[in-house]
Amino acid sequence: MMDWTDRHCRYFLRQLSSQALLYTEMVTTGALLHGDTQRFLRYHDCEHPLALQLGGSNPADLAACARLAQRHGYDEVNLNVGCPSDRVQNNMIGACLMGHPQLVADCVRTMRDAVDIPVTVKHRIGINGRDSYAELCEFVGTVREAGCTSFTVHARIAILEGLSPKENREIPPLRYEIAAQLKQDFPDLEIILNGGIKTLEECQQHLQTFDGVMLGREAYHNPYLLAQVDQLLFGLDRPVITRAETLTRMRPYIEQHLAEGGAMHHITRHVLGLAQGFPGARRFRQLLSVDVHKTTDPLALLDQSIELLAGH
Ligand SMILES: Cc1cc2nc3c(=O)[nH]c(=O)nc-3n(C[C@H](O)[C@H](O)[C@H](O)COP(=O)(O)O)c2cc1C
Repeated sequence: MMDWTDRHCRYFLRQLSSQALLYTEMVTTGALLHGDTQRFLRYHDCEHPLALQLGGSNPADLAACARLAQRHGYDEVNLNVGCPSDRVQNNMIGACLMGHPQLVADCVRTMRDAVDIPVTVKHRIGINGRDSYAELCEFVGTVREAGCTSFTVHARIAILEGLSPKENREIPPLRYEIAAQLKQDFPDLEIILNGGIKTLEECQQHLQTFDGVMLGREAYHNPYLLAQVDQLLFGLDRPVITRAETLTRMRPYIEQHLAEGGAMHHITRHVLGLAQGFPGARRFRQLLSVDVHKTTDPLALLDQSIELLAGH
């Protein structure tokens, strides 16, 4: 998620689940090929399994980016066909590509020819003016012919004029039954459900129908939700990490970042949700989002925050 799931956020989330597939923010081909490539690709080894999400529609550029991803050790490349922002539409990136199934297929084919790692697609169930189930099937069927076998379906349409990206994640209704129909009609494809999932119980329910689930906002705002993913969704027999332990494990990483000249809030801005739902949450957020900008001893502040988590 753009501006949210940067490498620090992913490092943090990885402490909570060793198994969940993590995604980068969407990186456009232009930014990757002509911008600060190393900054966009950088990650910590512990982040695996990790997918690089690309935004673009030029097959050759996407293939070049997929090669970069593979060379840097990413486990998967995902093409974004879901982002509704005006900025990306003007560049033929994101959800508007649902209106161009053949172009998406060409992109996927060229990317697949360039790399050995899986090339996957994340998309909506439609866009305004092209939101019938037949058109969705045409999209998925055409992209499947190019060799894509894994589709992550954000189960609402995107309305490309008049709604902000935020509204486009809230206003068009969720239609899980459409995604379920897709799984039924394309049983050989891996169909991963996304949109509005808030609990692991819901995940377990959806996993009766779908091959996977993807959590966005809830995983960010309430990250401790992920603490039981390994046990409940992946069947691993291991103790559930505590909130305090999660943050304690971040300490050496934060120390390293500080030693490289970074600021603690670059990292701690992503952990604010860790205290969600119990007394002390406000103080925790105050320490790590406000006081953090004034302190001369960030690690002492971190230790204070860890103490607030103890016992919860
Ligand atoms: C701040 C923000 C940034 C997002 N950036 C991306 C992105 O870069 N790529 C993407 O595929 N989806 C992006 N999304 C959409 C989410 O991945 C997800 O599809 C959507 O929020 C619905 O799932 P959820 O209800 O679990 O959050 C973003 C969402 C938010 C809130």
